[in-house]
Amino acid sequence: MTSLSTSAPGARQTNFLFRCIACASLSNDAGQNFRCAHCGDLLEITYPRWNEIKPNAGDLKSTWRQRRLSGSAIDLSGVWRFRELLPSLENVDQAVTLREGNTPLYELPQCARLTGVPRLLAKHQGMNPTGSFKDAGMTVAATFARLAGFHWVACASTGNTSASMAAYAARGGLRSLVLVPEGKISWSKLSQALDYGAVTCQLRTDFDGCLKLLQELVLRAPVYQLNSINPFRIEGQKTLALALMEQLDWQPPDHIIIPGGNLGNSSAIGKALLEMRDLGLISRLPKLSVIQAEGANALVRTLRETAGKRLISVRAETRATAIRIGNPASWKKAIHVIEATGGACEQVTEIEIAQAKAEIGAEGIGCEPASAVTLAGLKKLLQQGLVKPEETVVLVLTGNLLKDPDFTMEFHRGDLFKGTSDEGATGGLDRLRRPPAVLDATLDAVIGALERAERS
Ligand code: F0G
Repeated sequence: MTSLSTSAPGARQTNFLFRCIACASLSNDAGQNFRCAHCGDLLEITYPRWNEIKPNAGDLKSTWRQRRLSGSAIDLSGVWRFRELLPSLENVDQAVTLREGNTPLYELPQCARLTGVPRLLAKHQGMNPTGSFKDAGMTVAATFARLAGFHWVACASTGNTSASMAAYAARGGLRSLVLVPEGKISWSKLSQALDYGAVTCQLRTDFDGCLKLLQELVLRAPVYQLNSINPFRIEGQKTLALALMEQLDWQPPDHIIIPGGNLGNSSAIGKALLEMRDLGLISRLPKLSVIQAEGANALVRTLRETAGKRLISVRAETRATAIRIGNPASWKKAIHVIEATGGACEQVTEIEIAQAKAEIGAEGIGCEPASAVTLAGLKKLLQQGLVKPEETVVLVLTGNLLKDPDFTMEFHRGDLFKGTSDEGATGGLDRLRRPPAVLDATLDAVIGALERAERS
């Protein structure tokens, strides 16, 4: 089967080109694997006309603010509201949208106290329509999939990409194929893909095996891939940083801390920060730091052991299943933005993740395990002096608490580390556990529970 052009005929007249991150060659078109036709490396989207007609930062800010008052579908989207910095559409009604974006920026008073960082904030992408940050990328990539005339879209996933893709495919009248590692993603996420109508394949391999297969599939079948190798995904996910700066009145924080898995999201936020600086939307760059689970630490090892020159893949193992990835596709892009912003890359243990997740839960906000690496990572960066207590820090919470109820229940029941090498080292977590009590249906029993809680 011949590979189909991923660029919609109409798109040729738009405002962007594909650029290879290695050889910098430019093209109007990209193959279905979104790899450079010359050197095979990853592509990104660039806006050549920005050099000629530099958009006016003040005008952009007021246009985006005005749109918050608009009731049109395209303006109700917290992604397409920033469309001047996205691949353009001939007609805004072409967008496949679920009113994504415009997610909240929360203070974290309790976590601020325990870390000693007064200005600690959380940008919660788990408050998107399907419960994760993926929606911001998916609205753009699914829109261009449909414009390019594809009927089938596909992804490999640890669960959130597949849930988001299935939803946007259904919304856009497209069929969707999901490849997930069998028994390695949460039931919540799997249930979403099933309910949104995807053809779901649970493969007897890990995420990296699923992604490798997808790369082969898109060269054999008329299927459009929607993983973050697809640069349209990256463009949509940039808007997290735009919305965050708008919420901070364009005064950048000192640090943005984000979880790292396949490394598309850190690449997207970094790209947005550099573009905002170049366009004069912000006057300085926050440091962008990426945190991984110790059991899935390919980027950490790549930076420490090869100074970022060669990817060190690992056999990934972590209960933060969303980032259980050993061969991250966008490692070069992530290293570029970490270095360009002066950020750091750190790893955290399973116990540190569980503790941080419970601490974010105690704020009444909650998140899924992979998101909690941010708070755990902040504590490490503070110890290393890479973050100063007086600085402003934003944690990017990437997924909703409801994404992995098994983890939450096992934690509070005290079963999470049963039979693991960490079993004996969880004493420090007891103060955070709220085990459910099974009681006789008597007033005394309930009052007893109340009194015990009051004493604790
Ligand atoms: N946090 C959550 C909740 C995720 O679902 C993911 C990735 C990440 C962080 C890491 O983001 O890959 O851009 O570095 N989830 C993908 C998926 C891999 O298939 O759902 P990344």
